[in-house]
Amino acid sequence: MQRHARKRILLIGATGSIGQSVQSVVRTHRDRFQIVGVGARKLSDGLIAAAKEFDAESLAVTDEADASVAQRQDLSTRDWLAGSQAVLQQVERADYDLLVNAVVGNAGLEPTMIALGRGRSVALANKETLVAAGPLVMAAATATGAQVLPIDSEHSAIFQCLLGEMRDSIRTIWLTTSGGPFWEKSFSDLQSVTPDAALGHPTWKMGPKISVDSATLFNKGLEVIEAVRLFGVRPEQVQIVAHRQSVVHSMVEFNDGSFKAQWSVPDMRLPILFALSYPDRVPSQIVETRLQDFQRLTFEPVASENFPCLQLALHALQRGGTTPAALSAADELAVGAFLNGQILFTEIPQVIESVLKGWPDESLSSLQTVLDADRRARTAAGKVLAVHLRKVENRIC
Ligand SMILES: NC(=O)c1ccc[n+]([C@@H]2O[C@H](COP(=O)([O-])OP(=O)(O)OC[C@H]3O[C@@H](n4cnc5c(N)ncnc54)[C@H](OP(=O)(O)O)[C@@H]3O)[C@@H](O)[C@H]2O)c1
Repeated sequence: MQRHARKRILLIGATGSIGQSVQSVVRTHRDRFQIVGVGARKLSDGLIAAAKEFDAESLAVTDEADASVAQRQDLSTRDWLAGSQAVLQQVERADYDLLVNAVVGNAGLEPTMIALGRGRSVALANKETLVAAGPLVMAAATATGAQVLPIDSEHSAIFQCLLGEMRDSIRTIWLTTSGGPFWEKSFSDLQSVTPDAALGHPTWKMGPKISVDSATLFNKGLEVIEAVRLFGVRPEQVQIVAHRQSVVHSMVEFNDGSFKAQWSVPDMRLPILFALSYPDRVPSQIVETRLQDFQRLTFEPVASENFPCLQLALHALQRGGTTPAALSAADELAVGAFLNGQILFTEIPQVIESVLKGWPDESLSSLQTVLDADRRARTAAGKVLAVHLRKVENRIC
């Protein structure tokens, strides 16, 4: 692979919350990084603006309806791709050093696998990749010598704490959680929570799915699975601790009793900068942390039994195989239904649980197994939701 002076970045999920933060980091460090391609679902104004600003060589949109519109745009972009396979083709054929995967949901899995298969490292925001197929993803990276560099702030913190350490010296990985907007409430009291309330995270500004997942603490369950896969530790070595200030992004406790933590004001541009720069650390003023602003940092235990979505995720991790892929797909549909006003906030875990109830124990033998599991879980969740909607309609009539 030819090496370039500036790191050539292919950014998929370019228009989302993480995608925009990646653009911001690249804008500030143009001497180091170059965005050579952008991809997303829709051909939005934001995507076109990014392609123009960074003079992207390729642009891909997966929404079929946007294919003809794409052809009519006046862009110097050389490679236009549109249709369900567009992002996959872009990842397969573009010339880049690093794939930044900021797509939301299980749709992020295949691009990761293609990039790793080509020996390209992946800066991974899309945690669903590791949840659905962690063992396959890490094996693909090992096979080609490519790296999986976490963007999730907790996993970036752990990755940084582990630099220079031996894996067998880890006693416990402590994932911090702000607790989300409903920390003080019990789950059964949350029936009347509206999408707007669930989207109001106390410390992070994020896309809609991860915001709702953070409010149910499902996101923390995904992160436990992500940590187990990424760092090769046992599930019981990953613990969750509530840290309402979101300043300590996570910690590692070593077997001599020592702790290492990584911290800063909460701003995703910092873990993004680290993932883009790795193995270097780039001097930057993007994020400034003033110690005097944090006179009190608190850590509290999490009663995980009070968070049914977190419980479901931990259960799926224990079962392994294709269960985490099914879990993730079911949650995507349940969260979508909640955001569309079709189900209550407290019904999200019920949809996931219904899908997992009859889920078979099957091993994670190939990418195709995962994709099949994803498709079946979506069908099952769709049926659960349809039955639910019929019941609601009958009650109204
Ligand atoms: N936001 C955060 O602070 C944060 C922190 C840690 C980890 N993460 C993780 O990062 C990922 C992205 O989160 P986000 O908050 O940035 O989400 P978001 O704001 O909803 O953005 C999602 C992005 O994915 C694109 N996309 C959706 N479906 C796609 C598909 N099938 N093919 C190609 N692109 C597709 C969207 O394109 P359109 O705009 O065209 O729909 C958009 O660019 C998630 O996995 C999340 O868990 C996020």
